[in-house]
Amino acid sequence: MRLGVNIDHVATLRQARGTTYPSPLEAAALCEKGGADGITIHLREDRRHIQDSDLYALRKALKVPLNLEMANTAEIVGIAVATKPAEVCLVPERRQEVTTEGGLDAAGQFDALKPSITKLAAAGITVSLFIEPSLRQLDAAVALGAPVVELHTGKYCDLAGGEREAELRRLVEAAEHGHRIGLQVNAGHGLNYENLPAFLKAVPHLDTLNIGHSIVARAVMAGMEKAVREMKDLLA
Ligand code: PXP
Repeated sequence: MRLGVNIDHVATLRQARGTTYPSPLEAAALCEKGGADGITIHLREDRRHIQDSDLYALRKALKVPLNLEMANTAEIVGIAVATKPAEVCLVPERRQEVTTEGGLDAAGQFDALKPSITKLAAAGITVSLFIEPSLRQLDAAVALGAPVVELHTGKYCDLAGGEREAELRRLVEAAEHGHRIGLQVNAGHGLNYENLPAFLKAVPHLDTLNIGHSIVARAVMAGMEKAVREMKDLLA
């Protein structure tokens, strides 16, 4: 199974202070060193973390494939077609949300999605749809001509007990159905070092997991002692 590392929150830290660091480009190189099979970024309409310049720089420098998460808007589709990341993942986007909430309504937005998917595919980009683990949404992905889906794992990660078990069963059914109808099945959102093992044990046919926040958070803790020691060495 492949790991796509979402580095949006390296850019969040940079944007919080308006500095040039930490650099998503440097972080991506370290992710590659650590074994990342792909790098994921979300170029949001409000540019709250990843900037256009990050996309251009990553597109040039990465050795592993770049997966661009994006809303279905004319501006962002245009940027994707011009920069040609290996893959785009179409997600729903609301300005006020802290992070992507819920999956794309591929079935309900068929007419709005079809021309964008056709345009992106014609540019040689693999199109993925970020959807809820619902059979109706999986069938819509096939009808739309998207070869890849990313199952939204956010609910599984947020719920507990019996509700979490029920959501895990929905994810299993969705992965099985997606595989049966010929889709590449990816998954992501909210996965962390604690909730991943049970998910991995239960859900079959997964190709790629896209994980961001928990890895960036863990990287802060794993590097904190070294960072303080380096500053202390300077003081000495
Ligand atoms: N996949 C999609 C489509 C997302 O929108 C996000 C969040 O940007 C992720 C995966 C990664 O989620 P997390 O940061 O919670 O690991």
